[in-house]
Amino acid sequence: MAEHFAVNGGARLAGAVDVVGAKNSVLKLMAAALLAEGTTTLRNCPEILDVPLMADVLRSLGCTVTVKGDTVTIDVPAEPGAQADYRSVSKLRASVCVLGPLVARCRRAIVPLPGGDAIGSRPLDMHQAGLRKLGATTEIEHGRVVAQADELRGAQIWLDFPSVGATENILMAAVLADGTTVIDNAAREPEIVDLCTMLQQMGAKIDGVGTSTLSVLGVSGLQPAEHRVIGDRIVGATWAFAAAMTRGEVTVRGVDPHHIDLVLDKLRTAGADTVVGTEEFTVRMDQRPTAVDFVTLPFPGFATDLQPMAIALSAVAEGTSMITENVFEARFRFVDEMVRLGADARTDGHHAVVRGVDRLSSAPVWASDIRAGAGLVLAALCADGQTEVWDVEHIDRGYPRFVENLRGLGADIQRVEGEPNR
Ligand code: UD1
Repeated sequence: MAEHFAVNGGARLAGAVDVVGAKNSVLKLMAAALLAEGTTTLRNCPEILDVPLMADVLRSLGCTVTVKGDTVTIDVPAEPGAQADYRSVSKLRASVCVLGPLVARCRRAIVPLPGGDAIGSRPLDMHQAGLRKLGATTEIEHGRVVAQADELRGAQIWLDFPSVGATENILMAAVLADGTTVIDNAAREPEIVDLCTMLQQMGAKIDGVGTSTLSVLGVSGLQPAEHRVIGDRIVGATWAFAAAMTRGEVTVRGVDPHHIDLVLDKLRTAGADTVVGTEEFTVRMDQRPTAVDFVTLPFPGFATDLQPMAIALSAVAEGTSMITENVFEARFRFVDEMVRLGADARTDGHHAVVRGVDRLSSAPVWASDIRAGAGLVLAALCADGQTEVWDVEHIDRGYPRFVENLRGLGADIQRVEGEPNR
């Protein structure tokens, strides 16, 4: 049965909300467990659909996985399978991150290529080039990445772009390679730091963690670990935008505010007050936001995953904003749905120009991916009347307890079953 969110706009969000572990961290940490025989335990895991999907991918490789509340336990056999099951992988793009660990552990990997994505093309050329530098052969055969290596040797690798996924796959292969690997122009997202922290706990030798030059001295074996996943900065920042847009006051707990320094600075420029603690922060907005410009870039730049929230804020701000998307070329597609809510927005290539309006107006809209869906809900919170947001399974993939969290802050939102009327 299809579901939608029915959102009645106009409520001011107030109160506190707890954020759990990051989706973009936990899936990679689950893959990293493959690097060591034995039982790895992950805590603070988000209860989102992608976690059981990743568990299925690992099961297809011979692991025993239990997902109980916020704890995921992965028991890895002495010889994991090298071929991931197509049905499991096709449901979850992030599952390509088993490629590096499998090459490292089994010296071969067969991973089906997931299909296209609503936010733009997501090639694996940098993942493959990095693995080749380490001595593996990799081909795309019958829709699968096939990688093989008699031995992996440390190498100097320069990435064309600081790709999160390529950095992770190369890193997870390099930790068991012979000698030293240097990954230059590496991504330095907090989720990569989290992965490095767990790998170090497993016995990996990594220098330069948190910088764009990672130096990895390969070791002959790793041990399983117990690890607490870092809080989800994208979810935390989504609530920060929601507070600013509804002229509310929201305290977000469970996220390191330094992971979203730039976001908080933008919101202050838009007129918000912020109070920053160690693992929490508060955003308060007393007036209509002032328009600000946003440019998406790899961390520590403004996250592309928050671009829909930037568009939503700009749609109700005083003045005109320019939003520049530098990471995923098709990520502006959802802007047409924003326009259905009354946003005055126009896109041209990498840029969107948004002229803020006094009030948005409700309409049925469709979420095309996780973050676009969240951005549409934020816009709906500021729209007159009842907005129906459809295809909410996308939102459920990235935001645990999305409706409950918003209701806890005073939003008028409900999950409703039924088919769309179109
Ligand atoms: C991850 C995140 C995603 C986030 C993105 C950028 C996960 C599960 N997903 O995705 O939420 O939006 O980082 O912060 O962690 N590229 C290539 N060749 C490659 C690899 C990437 O051209 O081999 C390009 C992509 O098309 C894109 C850019 O590099 O334009 C960035 O992609 P990347 O950082 O790899 O994103 P993901 O790891 O897929």
